[in-house]
Formats: sequence, structure tokens, C-alpha cells
Amino acid sequence: MDLKRTDLFRTKSYINGTWIEAKNKNTLAVNNPYNGAHLADVSDCGVNEVTEAIDAASDAFEIWKKYSAGKRAKILKKWHQLQMQHAEDLALILTTEQGKPLAEALGEIKYGASFVEWFAEEARRIYGDTIPGHASSIRIVTIKQPVGVVAAITPWNFPSAMITRKVAPALAAGCTVVIKPSELTPLSALALGVLAEEAGFPPGVINIVVSSDAPAIGETMCASPKVRKLSFTGSTRVGKILLKQSADTVKKVSLELGGNAPFIVFDDADIDEAVKGAIASKFRNAGQTCVCSNRLFVQDSIYDEFVQKYTEAVKQQSIGSGLDAGTVIGPMIEEKAVQFVESVVADATSKGAKLMSGGRRHEAKDGTLLYEPTVLCDVNTDMDVFKKEIFGPVAPVFKFSTEEEVIALANNTEYGLASYFYGRDYARIWRVAEALEYGMVGINTGMISTAVAPFGGIKQSGFGREGSKYGMDDYLEIKYMCWGGVK
Ligand code: SIN
Repeated sequence: MDLKRTDLFRTKSYINGTWIEAKNKNTLAVNNPYNGAHLADVSDCGVNEVTEAIDAASDAFEIWKKYSAGKRAKILKKWHQLQMQHAEDLALILTTEQGKPLAEALGEIKYGASFVEWFAEEARRIYGDTIPGHASSIRIVTIKQPVGVVAAITPWNFPSAMITRKVAPALAAGCTVVIKPSELTPLSALALGVLAEEAGFPPGVINIVVSSDAPAIGETMCASPKVRKLSFTGSTRVGKILLKQSADTVKKVSLELGGNAPFIVFDDADIDEAVKGAIASKFRNAGQTCVCSNRLFVQDSIYDEFVQKYTEAVKQQSIGSGLDAGTVIGPMIEEKAVQFVESVVADATSKGAKLMSGGRRHEAKDGTLLYEPTVLCDVNTDMDVFKKEIFGPVAPVFKFSTEEEVIALANNTEYGLASYFYGRDYARIWRVAEALEYGMVGINTGMISTAVAPFGGIKQSGFGREGSKYGMDDYLEIKYMCWGGVK
């Protein structure tokens, strides 16, 4: 890997301000998903190391929480500035271990850094209230205090931004953190650790523990009374396990879980804009985001025109190595992800769906994890593409007739993360936006992710909000002081 700053490439975990190997000397291999090339053997830590990290974070909390908001903000700003300064190196590491195209990886680095900048600013705005007392001699004041040690378990699809989105508000609030990045993409996390060290966070404030034993690490984090908050981004299945495991210590928990996003196109929509939005929201990161549109619903009178234009646009999406200029769709993360996509496409075609494009692995010389961008029409609600989170570059396009019908279809899922629709009638826009049972609604846009807005879901997509002024709340406790005897 041709990095300008070669020291960003680390293979050890970062605990209490020290880069450490696993005590048992175990390592895990990190490979490039595009061609399977071996990138690194990273120390494979376990329960001992994560316990050490929790202890370090707990000790550091006593120091960090006493820093003034301004001092915490200054260090966060420095971290942001370093991420921007080394964005190209960070993007190269990200593409090489995760696969997404370099331009998209650079976008993720900047997106991730924007959370650090935003929460550095928010650190100074952790306000309390004064409340009129319930008696003339009473005064009531609230203050907000950091919850304590935060455990952050982050996914492989955004190896950088999902870390900063959790860690920046935690640090701004005065919490300390133990991060467990995905074992598929630990290098981006460790590079962020190098820059955090350089920014001046005291030892123990940020800890990064790489491990292939996610269940043991998760269980240790959940069981520890020292960890006061768990923030997890990943599958609904794992989120439920962590939520149950957090019950015994009654932790604060935030969960950003799976989605099954509807993307609705009404007959008065600008069809060309809707096609662009549907491309952006479906094929970002080869369809591997929780907010990717999963089910496209198009009103019957414009269905054929939309499918034809959308299919043409999908065929233009070039697929290949994330490092090649012009690639917009990179590889999927691992073999089982490709196999899952193959299974949902096979299920749909066996039940009568029509393949408009793609529908198979790309026959690249050295890229077996590339799956061709796929459009399916004549799909129905009995198919897996309606019920399951596809998490790959496959777009099923459903036909609907009425607003009532499409709302019912869109809400017919246990998930409630992102949703999208295109249309112009302003009364319908309000009705539909209010009726969709989702935490986020994109209206005439396919891109909703930004540090300034509260990202998060409802139903089995989880709870808690990341980003925006609300993103800090999950890392703060409210304390109310009742002052008596004011005569
Ligand atoms: C995710 O897929 O979990 C996050 C996507 C985003 O932040 O846009």
C-alpha cells in the first residue's frame, strides 16, 4: 500500500496509550476483498485485553470528564484536522481492506471527520435548564454529565465513519471509549487511533481492541459494570443479543440495526431525478449500507418508463477494483455475502421475477466477490427480496396503484430505518412522510446521511440517534438538583 504516512498502517491494538500485541500472540489475517490479497496479520486480542481496555477507560474517565468542554473540543478539533490532512491515506487503507471505490472511501473519511468537527463544536453546548420550582422555597436546576465508559462495536461497511459517529459525541460529552472494530476492517480503526494519539487524547481515553472473537468481546463489554453505555451498529440479530446481555448491568444502549428501506416513486415525480436518487441510494458501497433502498415501489402509470430508464442507468455503473479510476461498484465484503445475494435473486427468478440486468457474479479476472448490479421487475411480496435485507447491489422494482397500498407495503416489515419517496404534490408529501414508519425519510433525494441530522431507526432497526444536536444525548445523563429552603 503506497501510503504517504506509513506509520498509519498498524497491526497492534491500542490500549491505555500503548500499542499492544495479543498476550497469546494470536493474529488474524486481513485481506483485500477485491482480489483476496493478504494485507496484514493483526494482533487478535481477547477477553484479557478488552478487560484491560475497560479498566484503562474507567481510570481515564476520572481525568477526561474533568477537562473543560473547551479543552476537549480543542483535542477533537485537532483530531478532525489530522483526519482531513491524511484523508487520502485513510481512504487508501479503507478501500484496500473494505473494497469500496476510492472516491467513495474519501467521501467516507470526510463524512466521518465531519462528526468529529460537529461534536467538537457541540461539546461547548451541553446546556442544562432551570425549572420553576413546585414551591416558593424551591429552585430546580438540571445539569448534564457524561455517562462514563462507552463500548462501541462497529461494522465493516463503514470502517471509519461508524467509529467517529459514536466516539466523537462520547468524547465531547466527557466519556471515554473502548472500540471493537470489525475484524474484517481493523486497519482503518487503528489508523484513526494513530491520529487520536497525535491529537493529544490522554492515555486510556480512546482504546481500540481488535478481535476475531466478537461474541466474547461483546459479552465482556455488556457484563462489565464499568461500561455504562453500549453503542452498536450491525445486524438486528446481534443487536438483540447485546441488548439482552446489557440487561444485567442496566446499561444505556444505542442500536443502529438492519433496514428494509422502501424507495417510492409516485406518478407526479421527476422520473429522471428519481432514477438518479434510486441509483445513489441503492448502489452506494455495492448496496452494503443499512440505508440502501431495498425495495423500489413505482406507481403503475410510470412503471415501464421508470424500469427502462433505471435499467439503462444501472448498466452504466462500472464494476471492478475500488482502486481503478472510474469504478463505482466494488466487491462485496466476503463470499457468504455474495452467496446470500445469489440466493435472493434465485428465489425471485424461480417465483417469476424478470431479470432486467445483472443477476450474476462479474466475470473479472481477479475479482470473485464482484456481483453485477441487478434490476428485477415483476416482483411480488412472496419473494425474499421483499422480506429480507438484501445488502448487495440488487434492486427489485415493485408496482403499486394507490397511495394507501404503497404505504401499507412500505410499512410491512419489522424494520424502520430509512425510507425514500419521490413526488411533487405537497399535501401527499406531508401525508406520506408522516405515514411511513421509519426513523428517516428522504423526500426527493436518495442521500440522507449527514453529521448535522439525527441518524437512526425505529422498530427492529434499533433506537438512539447519531449525529446532530440529538447525537450527544445518548452519552449524557441528566441530573436534577432540587434546592430547598430558599426563603
Ligand atoms: C450504515 O449503513 O450503517 C450507515 C450508513 C450511513 O451512515 O449513511
